Amino acid sequence: MKLLVVGGGGREHAIIQKLRENPAAEEIYALPGNGGIAMDAVCVPSIGAKDIDKIVEFAQAHGIDFAVVAQDDPLALGCVDRLHAIGIPCFGPDAKAARIEGSKVFAKGLMKKYNIPTARYEVFSDPAQAIAYLRGAGFPLVVKADGLALGKGVLIAQDFSEAEAAVKTIMEDKAFGDSGNRIVVEEFLTGPEVSVLAFTDGTAIVPMVSSMDHKRAGENDTGLNTGGMGTVAPNPYYTEDMAKTCMETIFLPTLAAMRAEGCPFRGCLYFGLMLTPEGPKVIEYNCRFGDPETQVVLPLLKTDLLTVMQAVENGTLGDLQVEWSDGAAACVILASGGYPEHYEKGKAITFRGRPMTPTPACRLGSGLACYHAGDKLAEDGSLVTSGGRVMGITATAPTLREALAAAYQAAEDIGFEGKYLRRDIGQRALRALEG
Ligand code: AMP
Ligand code: GLY
Repeated sequence: MKLLVVGGGGREHAIIQKLRENPAAEEIYALPGNGGIAMDAVCVPSIGAKDIDKIVEFAQAHGIDFAVVAQDDPLALGCVDRLHAIGIPCFGPDAKAARIEGSKVFAKGLMKKYNIPTARYEVFSDPAQAIAYLRGAGFPLVVKADGLALGKGVLIAQDFSEAEAAVKTIMEDKAFGDSGNRIVVEEFLTGPEVSVLAFTDGTAIVPMVSSMDHKRAGENDTGLNTGGMGTVAPNPYYTEDMAKTCMETIFLPTLAAMRAEGCPFRGCLYFGLMLTPEGPKVIEYNCRFGDPETQVVLPLLKTDLLTVMQAVENGTLGDLQVEWSDGAAACVILASGGYPEHYEKGKAITFRGRPMTPTPACRLGSGLACYHAGDKLAEDGSLVTSGGRVMGITATAPTLREALAAAYQAAEDIGFEGKYLRRDIGQRALRALEG
């Protein structure tokens, strides 16, 4: 079979490595892919994940048998709708269903209408009205841009002046472009956060192993929000009882709500949950696999990923037994110094002191994976940095403590100027596990 994966980050690399385990996956193309993904797939750097026309043309010309659209933008832009229109089976929601992530106003409205627990909120399309409302509000409060903003469109305001500044940044300065035409102002919730990714064909749902992201750039959760500096799975706060409650009060009601709205969700639905003193509530939905959650969740999947994805596409997920490994996984992100603000690119990457190349010689040992995110091939075939999050090192082991030790140890094998990593990934989870 010829497979196509749309996207080019660590999440896509993890998906591709898992798809490769199926011997039927003869050829995998990644659009655009990245430098390191080239060791596992044919990358086409000239076709970006938002170039929907070119993606569709490529898929047709190359006789693609199955496509996985992994990134939010192409999903929101209707990549799956377009591939379906030319008869190519896909994993991923259509544009109508992808609104669950693409518009926070849509997602909040859905939760309100169908009684799915979430933070109380108001929507504004006029900055003056938003500011008038904020003058009388209690703090802290959360101000969110309506549309996609690379995970950066959420500002927590401690007082009126911070909230006013947030409204100006989003609605007047348009820091996130048209994503800030409307805002959601919502109640500040507290409690541990859990990411639950779930396979769903619109009716059946198979939650994956739970995970915990570390979104802030600095240790002890300080500094700016990033795309995620590391993850662990499973998340110790997500007990079996909590999983049952979430299934009944959040997961199944969300699927039913999407069906009732005429946009059944098929693909990977990501539930960003906060376990508040009043019970679990939805912080956000994503219409795709999380990054870097995927890098700890998929290594624990025992069932063949392509088979699961085909069952989602065919509406037969309910007939499939999906199995997971016991044990734990940890992923540590190696970032460019300065990320998520200014950072330099083009730094040579080394593996055990020699130039790193996308070849088997530069694979880590068993129970370890290096998922490339922000790198590209230099003319001499070696890898150089090209993004803020350069790669994620994942280890799986019987316990979280062992997985963390192995991931940090392996992270030493990779070098580049300005390499930055958080040293406290998984510490909160370990405290919760071990007391
Ligand atoms: P989001 O992009 O919506 O996941 O928000 C990014 C981060 O902001 C979340 O992971 C939370 O840590 C925080 N956050 C978002 N909404 C709220 C809320 N209502 N209360 C408290 N924290 C929030
Ligand atoms: N790690 C958070 C996300 O993928 O949105």
